Amino acid sequence: MSELRLTPQAFSILSALIEEAAGLCYTLADKEIFESKVCARAADAGFESVLDYYYFLRYDQNARAELDALIQALVVHETFFFRELEPLRVMVERFVLPLVATGAHPRIWCAASSSGEEPLTVAMLLSDAGVFDRVDLMASDISADVLERARKGQYSPRTLRRMPIPAFAMPFMTLTEQGVSVSAKLREAVQWRKLNLTNPHDVQSVGLVDVILCRNVLIYFRDEVAYRVVDHLTQRLRPGGALLVGVSESLMRFGTALACEEHGGTFVYRKPSQP
Ligand SMILES: C[S@@+](CC[C@H](N)C(=O)[O-])C[C@H]1O[C@@H](n2cnc3c(N)ncnc32)[C@H](O)[C@@H]1O
Repeated sequence: MSELRLTPQAFSILSALIEEAAGLCYTLADKEIFESKVCARAADAGFESVLDYYYFLRYDQNARAELDALIQALVVHETFFFRELEPLRVMVERFVLPLVATGAHPRIWCAASSSGEEPLTVAMLLSDAGVFDRVDLMASDISADVLERARKGQYSPRTLRRMPIPAFAMPFMTLTEQGVSVSAKLREAVQWRKLNLTNPHDVQSVGLVDVILCRNVLIYFRDEVAYRVVDHLTQRLRPGGALLVGVSESLMRFGTALACEEHGGTFVYRKPSQP
């Protein structure tokens, strides 16, 4: 355990730096966990003072890798297979299959994919629906570590949360001594990208998509930041495209140009079909 401590002033400037870099909002209620992660990283990086660490992160030209490592240590990567499954089924049935039926090749972007359980669940559903080869699936996260884990496809038993593997997933999952592994065919079909949702250039680089999943990440941003992120995501949606957030999240709190629609019990934010 590190001997370093975070004064209220150091907490204030370091949390502001993290918010600027990744959108993550920390209040004094989070100080303890923030302090333990920041001090551990500062000590690992060889700093004897948190302020020196701050000045390094803020002003040193070679600080990018350390700032990325600190963000990786701070973000919550909690995810699991088949999480909030019903909205994913609705998304495939109501938004993807009709597009495929018109001969289109829809694009789905899973915008905060963590270690891949969410986009891989989507890939399994697409395969079950017989449209796996007719859809582009992209998954991104700010954290390079989790994307590397996703590419490898080896998961601990925890990732199933003691749920039985559903029939549609059986062909793609193998139980191993360590947990579960996911077939290479699925993992290789997903385009994995490191991307910061609060960086407009990163978001723009995705191009236009038909469906965006941005689930269980906006909660870590303050409302103004979440509003800006949603605005940039909205610009990436094709007319008629859909944005899905987590089941306990709502965009109504801060407003959006998208229309909130209910589809089979799932709330979906929709871009108008006509611009
Ligand atoms: C709690 S996980 C949610 C994973 C998945 N969407 C789900 O619902 O199970 C949140 C993810 O958002 C990512 N994240 C946090 N801030 C981000 C940002 N500014 N840009 C991109 N990803 C971010 C984290 O690295 C983490 O993997």
